[in-house]
Parts: sequence; C-alpha cells; structure tokens
Amino acid sequence: MDDIIIKRDHGGNVSEISRIYGIDEDRIIDFSAGINPLGYPPGLRNAIIKDFDSVLNYPDIDSFDLVSGLSEYHGIDRDCILMGNGSTEFMYRIPMVFKPEKALIVTPAFSEYEKGLRLAGTKVSYFQTDEKEDFFIDIAGLCKRLEEGFDIVYFCNPANPTGVLTSKDELCRVIACADKTGALVVIDEAFIDFVEEESVKKEILRFSNLIVLRSMTKFFGIPGLRLGYILAVPSCIAKIRENKPPWTVNSLVQGAAVKALFDKDYIRETRQYISAEKEFLKNALNKIHGLRAFESAANYLLVFMESRIGLNSTELRNRLMPEGILIRDCSTFHGMEDRYFRVAVKKHEQNMILVEKLKKMVKQGRFYTICKFN
Ligand SMILES: Cc1ncc(COP(=O)(O)O)c(C=O)c1O
Repeated sequence: MDDIIIKRDHGGNVSEISRIYGIDEDRIIDFSAGINPLGYPPGLRNAIIKDFDSVLNYPDIDSFDLVSGLSEYHGIDRDCILMGNGSTEFMYRIPMVFKPEKALIVTPAFSEYEKGLRLAGTKVSYFQTDEKEDFFIDIAGLCKRLEEGFDIVYFCNPANPTGVLTSKDELCRVIACADKTGALVVIDEAFIDFVEEESVKKEILRFSNLIVLRSMTKFFGIPGLRLGYILAVPSCIAKIRENKPPWTVNSLVQGAAVKALFDKDYIRETRQYISAEKEFLKNALNKIHGLRAFESAANYLLVFMESRIGLNSTELRNRLMPEGILIRDCSTFHGMEDRYFRVAVKKHEQNMILVEKLKKMVKQGRFYTICKFN
C-alpha cells in the first residue's frame, strides 16, 4: 500500500488517501498542498451555477474575457497573456515548442519542470541551493553557472518547497545574465500573489527571453478547476499559442475566474489571513523541540527535523496519514534529504490540530529512539 503512495511527488492527493485509508474526504486535513484555506471566492459557486449552460458550447478558444480581465488586473497587454489548464500545461508545452538542448533548474523545485523537459529530450542540470544558507539563492553563482551555456533556465519565486523569496532586482540580474548567454528564463510565480510587488511580470517588456508562469489554482482556491497562464512578449506568446491544443480552459472557469480577480475583499483578506496565521504556525512549530520552521514568503512553511526526533520525513508523513493529516514529505525533491517536510497554512483550528499531532509524534519518535539505544 505504502509503495503506491511513496512514489507520489505531489501533495494534494486527498481522494487517494480517502480511498486507501477509508477516511471521508471531508475529515482529511490537507497540509500537503498550498491552497487558500479561506476556500474559493464567495461568489464563485453561484457564478458557475448561473453560467452552467455555457457547457453546451465549446469554450472560448482565446478566453477573451478572462484575458481582458487579467490584462486590467496586471496592467499588461492582452497579447502578452496566454491561458492554460493550470500553469503545469506550460511546463510541458514550453520545452515542446522551444526544443532546448540543455536546461538548468534551480533546485529544490517542482518536479514537473524536469518531467516536461525530459519529455522533449532536453538534458537537465541542477543549480542546487545550499541548506547551510537556508536555501537562499547565490545569484552571482547562478549567473556564473549560466556561462556554461544553457538554452533554458527554470526558477521558482517564491521557491517551492522552501518559501525563499528572491527580490525582483536580483531576479532581473539573472534574467539579464541569461539574456547575454542566450538562455530563455522561465520564472514560476505560482505563489507570488502573497508578495505581488516582487513579481517580474512587467519585466517582459524589457526582456524578450522571459516567460512568467502564473497559477490561479492556489491563491484562488480552485485546483480542481485548473487555471494558469503565461506572460511573455507577444512573439513568444504567439509561438506557444500556435503549438497548443485548443480548448484546454473550460468555459465555467473562464467566467468564474474573471469575477474572482476583481474580488478585492477576498484578495485582501487572504493576504492578511495568511500573513498572520503563518506567523502563528511558524512560532508554534518552532516551539516543538527538534523542529525548525523556515521563514517563507508563500502560504506554506518548510520544516527541518533534527535527527534526535528518531523519525525521518517519510516516516512522519506515513504516521500522520492514517490520522487524516497530510503533510508534504520533501525527500522526493531533488537534492533534499529526508529531514524536511512542508506544511500549508490552513484554518487556525486545523493548524492547532497539526501542532498537537506533531508534538505527539515527535515525543513518540524520541521515545522509540531512546528504547532502541538502551
Ligand atoms: C511551484 C508550483 N508551480 C506550479 C504548480 C502547478 O500549478 P497549477 O495548478 O496552476 O498547474 C505547482 C503545484 O503544486 C507548484 O507547486
């Protein structure tokens, strides 16, 4: 049974865990995926119900209204935006279109970059961030590495799973270095909504080698509806559009997402809630002996487990799972040991449950270690 689960390199497998452990889905608390704990915007359900008959037609192939909404939201021209079935669609599409021979991924990172690249026959190398430096990215080192001659480089900001934020100015240095060496830069901003001011979205006007990946599934709480997009210069957008399957964005999500974008109260409340609750959770986790939660600019926290706990991250995840608590074991991330896990910030009472369960597990783990050595 564990075999099936252990091979997964994503969080958010709620229905699978429910099936395997016979726990109702609504009794599972999923800390493994960074989805908005406030849920989707309040008007979204009604907007979808009202719009339901739109399923009788093929969806608008260009997502015209949604692209117009995003153009206004970001202050970016319509022809610099292309919608997709989640940002993951582009992780497969971009390598297929540009056929890079050599890619560099700043790691640890989301596994789909590498899968998309390998499918296109690209040779993948890594620029591993150092745990001794709390996974901060050595920008000068990265620029130097680019001189080896890569065709494409992938960078996630804020980084997943570490939550490290690289400033816009520093990222621009990387994009400029890549421009000089002839590399395309893909910046994944799936979690930038919490620090929108650090987005490099407007830099597409300055750098024609930049593609920004954006996701609407996390911040707007709609992973099941699937919605993402890219921002880039019109020539790049046109090239990808020509090579993209049609209708990957369904009509229901097109209509609902435009409304979500302009729900200013929901957006403000989400940012305020995450900021305060993240602080609470980080402090509570840091009070558990043997755990260390990192600073994070996103809606999740990376946690380091000291060896004295007597459990590794896979064992911890496996012990929490039957109790309906899902955490993201980070040992499947490239270059990460089995001493790290990631938890999303959830509702306060859910975060309290997590903290209590972790206290119990850590205590038990230490107890088993003492028994083993006595
Ligand atoms: C860093 C990162 N980028 C992108 C995605 C995928 O986003 P989407 O749901 O838009 O495909 C994920 C999903 O977990 C992610 O962690």
